[in-house]
Amino acid sequence: MLSKQDIDDRILVQEHFAHEHLPQQMGSAEIEAYKDKIRRLLIEKDACLVAHYYTDDLIQQLADETGGCVADSLEMARFGSRHSASTLIVAGVRFMGETAKILNPEKRILMPTLEATCSLDIGCPADEFAAFCDQHPDHEVVVYANTSAAVKARADWVVTSSIALQVAEHLADQGKKIIWAPDKHLGEYIRKETGVDMLLWDGSCIVHEEFKAKGILDLKQVYPDAAVLVHPESPDAVVEIADAVGSTSQLIKSAQELPNETLIVATDRGIFYKMQQAAPGKRFLEAPTGGSGAACRSCAHCPWMAMNGLDNILSALENGTDEILVDEDLMVRARRPLQRMLDFSAS
Ligand code: 13P
Ligand code: SF4
Repeated sequence: MLSKQDIDDRILVQEHFAHEHLPQQMGSAEIEAYKDKIRRLLIEKDACLVAHYYTDDLIQQLADETGGCVADSLEMARFGSRHSASTLIVAGVRFMGETAKILNPEKRILMPTLEATCSLDIGCPADEFAAFCDQHPDHEVVVYANTSAAVKARADWVVTSSIALQVAEHLADQGKKIIWAPDKHLGEYIRKETGVDMLLWDGSCIVHEEFKAKGILDLKQVYPDAAVLVHPESPDAVVEIADAVGSTSQLIKSAQELPNETLIVATDRGIFYKMQQAAPGKRFLEAPTGGSGAACRSCAHCPWMAMNGLDNILSALENGTDEILVDEDLMVRARRPLQRMLDFSAS
């Protein structure tokens, strides 16, 4: 027989399904008008839209329709470097725009808003990080792409979540010790998987850190055949109950390849747009984030990714606002570990 706690949990799970996504702020005619103007300006300005999976569906759709890309942070960097457009509109968060600029200094990089940052970037100030590295000169410095250009400039390697494991294994094979920054959860996952000797910076993603193993297990009681897909920025307890752990693009691939018809997804809900395309007919459930007293059962949406909209993409294209500019010397120093990641991923 179910305990009162179990029944309460199930009620909360049902409430979770009733949770509606925020309604579109614009009517369909207005949306079409924006899209038409953006399409025209992308051609006129020799620009290309490079979007992350966490951005609004409308942005992802437009990037696809106009020959841009929708991708994880590694592929965004690769795509921007390969594309011939002289301007890239990077819809995502600031580190993605900076990465594009560092790799393509000759291109103009615009963002819908420069205010779109990332809690990992904020939690790793360059001066404090440099002091930390200076205390451990015998360690190889590996930083996540979700960092400022100044932090990258202090690193030996930059990695994204889709290549972090391979780079760590490569360094472990060489007997290297690693300083890992800024995401402690991703670092812990890598440490467990590779056994590499790591010193972790104490940073985290405010979105992924909120996923709760208990909430996911409660949901699995309602959907016992569901598989659990987890981004490795999530806490250890959540990673441990996952059927697949990986970067955004790796999770989309798992959604496609796993036999399960129902998938509980512990990452930003923006990913559902591409997951549904990759695995049509499957049921996708947002992993719960709230504790038992919380008003919000799933808050799985990055507030900074949500700052990207059709309106500010249009304004960036029309007015050249929110351009990414990075100090020359910093660019040269940050390019080295970034290029190393791209070369490694190509090898
Ligand atoms: P990916 O590299 O997996 O796209 O992740 C970027 C990110 O910010 C996840 O929160
Ligand atoms: Fe940063 Fe987390 Fe947002 Fe990704 S989801 S951009 S890690 S705050």
